[in-house]
Amino acid sequence: MNQDALKKAAALAALEEIRALASGAVIGVGTGSTVNLFIDALAGSGINIRGAVSSSEASAQRLAAHGIPLVRLDEIEAETLPVYVDGADEIDPGFNMIKGGGGALTREKIVAAVARRFICICDASKKVATLGRFPLPVEVIPMARVQVGHEIARLASGIPRWREGFVTDNGNHILDISGLAITDPRTLESDLNQIAGVVTNGLFARRGADVLLLATASGVERSERSG
Ligand code: A5P
Repeated sequence: MNQDALKKAAALAALEEIRALASGAVIGVGTGSTVNLFIDALAGSGINIRGAVSSSEASAQRLAAHGIPLVRLDEIEAETLPVYVDGADEIDPGFNMIKGGGGALTREKIVAAVARRFICICDASKKVATLGRFPLPVEVIPMARVQVGHEIARLASGIPRWREGFVTDNGNHILDISGLAITDPRTLESDLNQIAGVVTNGLFARRGADVLLLATASGVERSERSG
């Protein structure tokens, strides 16, 4: 099976995972190539959701193209969404993740924060023992980019690189930090967010995944975070 087939298998497994939770509800939808397959499958699934809160303009366009009603997060009366479905760039055994390869990390983090259940869908290549081989994205206010880069290099001993030419849905820039081996993701997530000019970073440790649907050559493995 190639990587696209694995992504599709994970996306289809997510439909069964959310079927009972999502019927008649507003759900949270992430961003990326795996989520694109999930959106396409959702549209033909017969699952009757009330609408979707999107974590990016790209996913919003795809949802709208399928006729799935878009709901703004600030329109939701309830304090929570029942479920949020998204991919990851890396996920470790504690269900901590690196996200933001597509640059949507801030809105992803906002929508994930209000969801009762985070369902992570990905192919087996995303499962790692220690986060950090994938460069960690950090969204920064443009005027602070250079200074934030210096501070990150000092704090995290990583090498920040400007994702030149890329502008987030929020009008900001991204620094990708390479050379990290993240043994304490919760602390690094908090420390990076303390730097003036950082909007947020792509570590999802304080709000990690609850369920992992990991597509492997021998099928989709389902696991839940312990504790
Ligand atoms: C988007 O900004 C990311 O957080 C994605 O969720 C992540 O990069 C996974 O994307 P793929 O499904 O395309 O691998």
